[in-house]
Amino acid sequence: MCGIFAYLNYLTPKTRREVLEYLVTGLKRLEYRGYDSAGVAVDSDDGKGITLVKQTGKVKILEDAIKEFMTGHDIDTPISTHCGISHTRWATHGVPSDLNSHPQRSDEENSFVVVHNGIITNYKDVKKFLEKRGYRFESETDTEIIAKLVHHLYLQHPNYSFRELVEQVIQQMEGAFALAFKSKHFPGECVATRRGSPLLVGIKTKTRLATDHIPILYGKDSATDPEHRPHGAGREVPMIPRTESTSEFQPLEDKEVEYFFASDASAVIEHTNRVIYLEDDDVAAVKDGALSIHRLKKSLDDKHAREIITLKMEIQEIMKGSYEYFMQKEIFEQPESVINTMRGRVNLVNNTVTLGGIKEYIPEIKRCRRLMLIGCGTSYHSAVATRQLLEELTELPVMVELASDFLDRNTPIFRDDVCFFISQSGETADTLMALRYCKQRGALIVGITNTVGSSICRESHCGVHINAGPEIGVASTKAYTSQFISLVMFGLVMSEDRISLQTRRQEILEGLKNLDSQIKEVLKLDLQVLEIAKDLFQQKSLLIMGRGYNFATCMEGALKVKELTYMHCEGIMAGELKHGPLALVDDMMPIVMIVMRDCVYNKTINAIQQVKARGGQPIVICEENDKETMQFAHKVLEVPKTVDCLQGVLTVIPMQLLSYHIAVLRGCNVDCPRNLAKSVTVE
Ligand code: M6R
Repeated sequence: MCGIFAYLNYLTPKTRREVLEYLVTGLKRLEYRGYDSAGVAVDSDDGKGITLVKQTGKVKILEDAIKEFMTGHDIDTPISTHCGISHTRWATHGVPSDLNSHPQRSDEENSFVVVHNGIITNYKDVKKFLEKRGYRFESETDTEIIAKLVHHLYLQHPNYSFRELVEQVIQQMEGAFALAFKSKHFPGECVATRRGSPLLVGIKTKTRLATDHIPILYGKDSATDPEHRPHGAGREVPMIPRTESTSEFQPLEDKEVEYFFASDASAVIEHTNRVIYLEDDDVAAVKDGALSIHRLKKSLDDKHAREIITLKMEIQEIMKGSYEYFMQKEIFEQPESVINTMRGRVNLVNNTVTLGGIKEYIPEIKRCRRLMLIGCGTSYHSAVATRQLLEELTELPVMVELASDFLDRNTPIFRDDVCFFISQSGETADTLMALRYCKQRGALIVGITNTVGSSICRESHCGVHINAGPEIGVASTKAYTSQFISLVMFGLVMSEDRISLQTRRQEILEGLKNLDSQIKEVLKLDLQVLEIAKDLFQQKSLLIMGRGYNFATCMEGALKVKELTYMHCEGIMAGELKHGPLALVDDMMPIVMIVMRDCVYNKTINAIQQVKARGGQPIVICEENDKETMQFAHKVLEVPKTVDCLQGVLTVIPMQLLSYHIAVLRGCNVDCPRNLAKSVTVE
């Protein structure tokens, strides 16, 4: 929900100007995660304290404030070792304001500062505890308690290391967090940790590291008593066993090294492709240029080391290039992204599909009682879009569930269920919670994600990477079509040995083969869609109707319009029209109808006639040259014909373009819609 970026240079001299530039660029890359306020913390002019610059609004406003700060300060002297932390916020506790933005501080001296992603659920108890000890709070955030608690512990235990203090702090925290700390008492050090929110460490050295693994150092005694949390009980924070601090990882003999802590890889890729994804409750500390990773408790599935991974991401993938917005770029990338999803998996010569990430589990999946597809927002819509096909190809009951609702209901789950968790980011809190819920009940967990190393990836038994490439625009576009195709490929794998389904499989494979060129055809509608957007952008409301395989396009199109344009928009199942929504229809109500020549064609034509009979003037998305359907249309968008179950990949693209153009015409910020963030890591 928020973005964390921290940078530490050790024996690699950098001026504070350079450090600030790194921090601001890092925040810009993460801005899609939250963008209502931002801030940085760097060493003060004399190197003995900490300077904070914080601003309400987007990172650009912070950047301007930093430029102002630069005049009149010595920011061009190289510093051999320095740590800076920064944050871009999506408000949860307290309105967007300078005071509520991060870094939050311990005291007026800025002794300890912290940036936080997530929510601390027991912050009121900790706040009460600290207030009783004289701490006065200046912000409305939950985060401020973290800065003040670490300070409180430091005053009680001045001999503790920075990392040990942070370990003590997180034992008192309930909720979800990724945190990065800086302190004037520990210059040149940075400590970062996570529980439930993503965080990675990028490592940049001049020569290749001697190892690809960082060993984990554990606490001597893993017992901690949750009763001892400061639930306002008025007792001191109990100190828990300190973890070993010996044999820290030494990256290089000459030890020149730079570290980057970030919420996701897009912020570090321009500096290094060598990263470690931290696990929940890892505490990563950099001291004297050495990175060490500590855990207080050993858990059964601990790997005893964290691997340094080489990212395959390219810098161009996270740049806008010649496009106005990331969303526009991502819409136009779909001919390539769908190919990337199928690459190495769909073999059109011998008509086979191989999904390496779930291959071993296919026999188990075939024996299951039912398939459950679980996700939020667009990811949920990809499940709706493919449900019918999966029922057909797997001959299993398929349930689609919104993760939040699924949890609200305490849905019964059985050991012989197979649960798919679909998530672009792989970090959506509701989806992750639903995953854990199903895992505890013994179901097989399959992750369908776009983000390598994400929590959903790591916590799944097996999965499929959709390989759509980084999606930066808050509105999901190419991830949807890639999720769609991943689920179709799964259906093809499941039906490989079903003789009765071979003709069907063949036509779907044929459809997949032509999909990229057909998407290119659809994208040529861009100017036509722009003209329709010009007619619609001042309207208050828009209805999108369809049924069968194209109902998901209606819901997904409506979600895009809502989130980008702030206009009311509803996706309506055409079969439900006469059960209520028809009352909305008159000659003024803007309506889009999706009418494809599939098995529900006649029923959809009935719906369009009902709309016409009430004076409605539908904009119709139909197959190329379908003159019969076009006679009902006020305006037409023609898309190429593909096999019925893939048609939704083509019909959704005009809706993506329409929402994009309406948003631009209404002056909305396409990539960063108000009140939203890309990755919803809070419940
Ligand atoms: O990262 P996820 O796919 O789990 O995200 C789920 C939703 O938050 C996301 O699809 C959201 O609905 C998009 N902003 C829609 O464009």
